[in-house]
Amino acid sequence: MNTVAQEFRALWGAAPAAGLDVMRLRWDFPILRQTVNGKPLVYLDNAATSQKPQSVIDCEAHYYATLNANIHRGVHTLSQLATDAYEAARGATQGLIHAARREEIVFVRGTTEAINLVATSYGQRLRAGDEILISAMEHHSNIVPWQMACERTGAILLVAPINDAGELLLDEFERLLGPRTRLVAVTHLSNALGTVNPVRCLIELAHARGIPVLVDGAQAVPHLKVDVQALDCDFYAFSGHKLYGPTGIGVLYGKAALLDAMPPYQGGGDMIREVTFSKTTYNELPFKFEAGTPNIAGVIGLGAAIDYVSAVGLEAIATHEHALLAYATGQAAQISGLRIIGTATEKASILSFVLDGVHPHDAGTILDLEGVAIRAGHHCAMPVMERFGVPATVRASFALYNTREEVDALFRAVRKAQEVFA
Ligand code: ALA
Repeated sequence: MNTVAQEFRALWGAAPAAGLDVMRLRWDFPILRQTVNGKPLVYLDNAATSQKPQSVIDCEAHYYATLNANIHRGVHTLSQLATDAYEAARGATQGLIHAARREEIVFVRGTTEAINLVATSYGQRLRAGDEILISAMEHHSNIVPWQMACERTGAILLVAPINDAGELLLDEFERLLGPRTRLVAVTHLSNALGTVNPVRCLIELAHARGIPVLVDGAQAVPHLKVDVQALDCDFYAFSGHKLYGPTGIGVLYGKAALLDAMPPYQGGGDMIREVTFSKTTYNELPFKFEAGTPNIAGVIGLGAAIDYVSAVGLEAIATHEHALLAYATGQAAQISGLRIIGTATEKASILSFVLDGVHPHDAGTILDLEGVAIRAGHHCAMPVMERFGVPATVRASFALYNTREEVDALFRAVRKAQEVFA
């Protein structure tokens, strides 16, 4: 028998774990049937982007093949059908995060654009000496837009520190909430450490002082059941492509009253009610923030991805990934010379580590030769690397289709890397 076929069988032969029939689900993802460097692909770079099920791929193709037309503009049939499909995806997104109103869902390019939108638009109310509070475990996309807003306005960026496990220091966070704090912007799940922040508690602390909170949910939405009303967050940002959906599409959730009071982010078509050369009036929510022809296919594909994860069940996905992370953490502990970066009590889906004497990029190259895809680098979180005194880490990140056998393959490849560099 063909060796690669045997290897595939070994990797895919996982027993159904905690309610998730991973073996069956894997068949929904055509890319997972590939070999890389002659080895069955072990895809563990899901925090960077996750793979797409056939239903998402088909849905985008179906839109272009049968529905393609611009939305909100035409009286012709295709335009109306495309508009219906686009708006249905907004409804699905509202349901996914349990937003109170559909107009609170704004489609953007991704988490980065969502945060830039808030930093630019909401940021217009910042004055010199005002403060924005973030945490020390933020992704660059939840740091740089605020630095830019501070440069424009003279506001000050404050950073709540983390401990050696990669957990936010709650006392310090609370101490930094002051009379000039105008916004808190914090990640739900750290992309570099895997830490799950107690966002409900952070929001309560901020709201007790009348401070709104933006949550960066890029990593959380694919792995945790998010309820924006239960969290009571003011803004929540996430991307489609980490949620098994297309690239180039994301979501900004904002409380309607806040979004309503904010100036537009970009000007153009669809975001206007009436334009004259002397004055323009703006459209209602959410269209006020969706200038220009949007990523219609992306939105419709995101809708299909939401249908997919909803059918599988986010609780079941979370349970499966939690078991996988616990297994991987146990396996990692048995490898001498391996240090896990990010050992918070509350973690999800991400295992970052460094190896004595092996640079993460070299480890990544050896792992790739074994068909194992991980991310090696600073993960767009350079301040986190600085905090832990490492230039970079190896990061394995899990999704609903990963198996224990793939974790074993990861650590076999890690041992090989150690041997090569011994
Ligand atoms: N933010 C993505 C990551 O963590 C790209 O890899």
